[in-house]
Amino acid sequence: MKVFIRKNYDEMSRYAAEIIVDLIKTKPNCVIGLATGGTPIGTYRELADFHRKGLDMSKVKTFNLDEYLGIGIDMKKSYESDQSYARFMYEELFKHVNIKKENIHIPNGLSKNPDKFCQWYEDEIKKAGGIDLQILGIGGNGHWAFNEPGASLYSRTRVEPLTKQTLDDNYDAFYKKAGIKRDKMPHFAITMGIGTILEARNLLMIANGKKKAKVVARALEGSVTSQVTASAIQLHSGESMVVLDKEASTELKNIEHYKHVEKILSIRSKNNQKISSDSSTV
Ligand code: F6R
Repeated sequence: MKVFIRKNYDEMSRYAAEIIVDLIKTKPNCVIGLATGGTPIGTYRELADFHRKGLDMSKVKTFNLDEYLGIGIDMKKSYESDQSYARFMYEELFKHVNIKKENIHIPNGLSKNPDKFCQWYEDEIKKAGGIDLQILGIGGNGHWAFNEPGASLYSRTRVEPLTKQTLDDNYDAFYKKAGIKRDKMPHFAITMGIGTILEARNLLMIANGKKKAKVVARALEGSVTSQVTASAIQLHSGESMVVLDKEASTELKNIEHYKHVEKILSIRSKNNQKISSDSSTV
């Protein structure tokens, strides 16, 4: 796991976007897992900026982590206004870039048979060749996607009830502004499972703000537990990257080590650039 600490939200967002752009440049038909929430808004804004400056995303496939049950839209048909994560994605990313509608996958909160839908979603991820890079935030209670405390670390895409804390957090962030009453908010969601997320070849977790400092430290440096499902990052066998702003990093114990690793990695990548121009080296 590599932890990169940036001065503030904007720099965190820029750095996360650069990681995604590097992937798209090396693999234009890559499969990216997307997250919603306040944290990735800046990253999506930066991606839109890269697109305006020429980044082609027409071959990129996307799979979103989750969606509330009972609301949502068919991304292939329309972009109506509601509180769904589908609409959020359209507003914050899809309308600003050239990802094709047929390449976008978001759990269908309006499915008539959600359990069957969840199996279909897993199959679609497999058919696409698996996720190359999964973007993740972290909830106030340490959740990844809607894998609330106690969710199995082997879990797959399924319907999950939301905890009171998640309902409160999301109500304040999204529903209150729209004038929607608390009891009208969906209490269930379709979510990728922790097992599904851990199969992504690369993970990119981002977090910002003082409010996240404790839970970030708990997930990265505490014991692995289903009570903090993001702690499953410690079980990931591929490349896991965590990009934080300074405020979210303040409770980490190994901060000097993370900074040291970043420094030696950048020295190594500079040396590698020199070496790779010499074709005789192995
Ligand atoms: C959203 C998601 C959630 C959020 C988490 C943090 O797709 O999967 O787990 O990443 O709740 O939300 P924010 O970024 O609003 O703090």
